[in-house]
Amino acid sequence: MNTNTVKLALIIAVAVFHPSVVSAAETKVAAVIGTGDMGDSVGPRLADLGYRVVYGSRRPASDKVRALVEHTGGEASAATQADAARQADIVFLLVPWPAMETVAQNLGDLDGKIVVDVSMPFRQGEDGYPEHMFETSSAEMIQGWNPRAKVVKTLGTMGSYIIDDPLAAGGVVSMPIASDDRNAKETVARIVADLGLDPVDFGPLRMARQIENLQMIYMIPLVQNRPENWEFHFLRSDHYGCYQAGGETPEGIVPPFDADDLAVFPAQGEPPPPCTESSRSKWRDH
Ligand SMILES: NC(=O)c1ccc[n+]([C@@H]2O[C@H](COP(=O)([O-])OP(=O)(O)OC[C@H]3O[C@@H](n4cnc5c(N)ncnc54)[C@H](OP(=O)(O)O)[C@@H]3O)[C@@H](O)[C@H]2O)c1
Repeated sequence: MNTNTVKLALIIAVAVFHPSVVSAAETKVAAVIGTGDMGDSVGPRLADLGYRVVYGSRRPASDKVRALVEHTGGEASAATQADAARQADIVFLLVPWPAMETVAQNLGDLDGKIVVDVSMPFRQGEDGYPEHMFETSSAEMIQGWNPRAKVVKTLGTMGSYIIDDPLAAGGVVSMPIASDDRNAKETVARIVADLGLDPVDFGPLRMARQIENLQMIYMIPLVQNRPENWEFHFLRSDHYGCYQAGGETPEGIVPPFDADDLAVFPAQGEPPPPCTESSRSKWRDH
């Protein structure tokens, strides 16, 4: 290999095997609204990825927030919630659902910004198990309050300890993502992958309802007071791919609106096993 070929190979290797750390020239600003359990996990990891983190807090000058800013590094700072959002390209809403209505309607102009919702809008039903508080989803509510923001639902179907240590449960955790904005979905999928999680495209924002159903399922061992819980780890399969390998369109299925322009997600888990003749014939014979 000549020198240029070696350089190119190195660049490709770095691009493929290392997280897409934001370079200094294009440093993006991430607002982390809420400095609790999620905020103090997400903020430092975003800083590691090259984001300039601005915490949005009700008490930005408190000792707790100052210590978090210091721990985060990478030119992190703290401000009021609205000021943090104003500075940011991407806003992570990491506040409890009961606070969200006030918070998400008082961050100022979020037009064009990516807004990530992780919240769990649940209460306990009469039987003690979680139930949703409304028919849609928190993400759709936030989108309704901020119609020109690019709302993305994700990062809520695991515990914050997985953000701190993505392999803490013994494998790569799957992370569903839903948004009506393809580019926002891809940007967040890249961040999710760089955090060490496996992003999964759940389609448009209304599918946040299904993500929130998974969040409710995640909570069940907690209300049961079990000593163990389950992190979501979806196994890749060739099941659909084998069917479509022959160019067949599944009968009776109308392609969704984004069929010709699906978001491209980075793969983080194990690749699916190859399509075998027996799996193909299983489709063919039925
Ligand atoms: N913790 C998890 O493992 C986990 C997992 C999945 C999803 N989630 C979701 O992530 C979100 C944050 O959870 P968390 O565990 O980090 O909650 P938390 O520890 O209670 O902290 C949330 C932060 O939000 C801010 N906040 C609280 N009440 C507020 C209010 N009334 N108005 C404005 N800001 C307020 C506070 O930050 P300041 O004091 O700095 O203002 C607080 O530290 C929730 O929606 C939760 O459902 C959490």
